[in-house]
Amino acid sequence: MSMQYPYSVGMHINPEIPYNDLPLLPFQESLETILVMQAAIRANKALAELKGIAQTIPNQSIFINTISLKEAQYSSEIENIITTTDELYQAFSISDGMMTQSAKEVLSYRSALWQGFSLLKNRGVLTTSVMNEIQATLLGNNAGIRSLPGTALKNAVSGKIIYTPPVGKEVILDKLKNLEAYIHTDSVDPLIKLAMMHYQFESIHPYYDGNGRTGRILNILYLIYEGLLDQPILYLSHYIIQHKEDYYRLLQNCTFKQDYEPWILYILEGIEQSAKETISKIKSIQVCMQDSIALVKEKLPKIYSKELIEVIFEQPYCKIKFLEDRGIAKRKTASEYLYQLEEVGILESKKVGRETLFLNTKLFELFKGL
Ligand SMILES: Nc1ncnc2c1ncn2[C@@H]1O[C@H](COP(=O)(O)OP(=O)(O)OP(=O)(O)O)[C@@H](O)[C@H]1O
Ligand SMILES: [Mg+2]
Repeated sequence: MSMQYPYSVGMHINPEIPYNDLPLLPFQESLETILVMQAAIRANKALAELKGIAQTIPNQSIFINTISLKEAQYSSEIENIITTTDELYQAFSISDGMMTQSAKEVLSYRSALWQGFSLLKNRGVLTTSVMNEIQATLLGNNAGIRSLPGTALKNAVSGKIIYTPPVGKEVILDKLKNLEAYIHTDSVDPLIKLAMMHYQFESIHPYYDGNGRTGRILNILYLIYEGLLDQPILYLSHYIIQHKEDYYRLLQNCTFKQDYEPWILYILEGIEQSAKETISKIKSIQVCMQDSIALVKEKLPKIYSKELIEVIFEQPYCKIKFLEDRGIAKRKTASEYLYQLEEVGILESKKVGRETLFLNTKLFELFKGL
């Protein structure tokens, strides 16, 4: 007769019982298999190239604005918060009252990302309190760490419970403390660590909601903490959307089969692909910007300035006020500049409510396809 275990590591784990036995990091298993090491080398190489290219961008805010917004859009889409690129980019340039709920949520994601970035810069570490602040900004409430039972992950189709995270605020805090220690201790390659910390964070599932999005923001911040990037410009969420079933399945297999290798390979492959995608995007934007500079110098030499070109590349939608704010021109002249840029085919004016927005069409096309 076989023994009955309620749940315990390596034994049968009941998905409907809170997994308070979630093991602490680092796990016993050796994570550095040959396949993992090879994938880690490829991912590190792509990331190093991305870091280098990003450093050559003259005005950092130009790309980072749009890139972080795109990451926000995709990460929110995993949660089924869908916005069209157009709606989102307009939202960035219009007032609050005119935004859709989805657009607001996406912008909250982006605020949370930037908040995390500055908290990391100021404190130098990724603590539980940084995580809590990110989640609070994201959800716009102060519910904080779960203290009530009842949170469970369900299969989206059947509604069946597939995993129940640990319960008890103290238990959750202990596991987060352990995760924090793991993050700040050198052990394996940082990218392998990233895979493990993401799994662990999602398994602890410390909040009532927003765990996926907070975890994905932490991933980006962790790369910065490790010095692998200077700015939050890696788009893992686009890759995750494209391979969403795998994302859920592989997380689940870590818990129920202690099968970590496929999960780590999934994340490493994601980092490599996303880094390459971002590199090619940055290069296309640079070309697009050079083309616009050449065109304006040729057709509109009187209005050409470096600042003017930069402001129309900061985000796809520009408006008169952006030029005024940067001291490029007063209202009337600023308006003339933007309409002249429309005449030579760089911008396209669009009425949105009472605002007139000017779309940088080529830049928009580049980001739409991403
Ligand atoms: N089997 C699993 N074990 C642990 N974590 C999981 C598992 N399946 C999914 N997750 C994580 O839980 C997240 C969903 O949790 P939650 O709804 O709190 O986050 P969210 O940010 O609101 O949602 P989403 O991640 O869908 O945007 C998923 O994104 C994923 O990161
Ligand atoms: Mg949710």
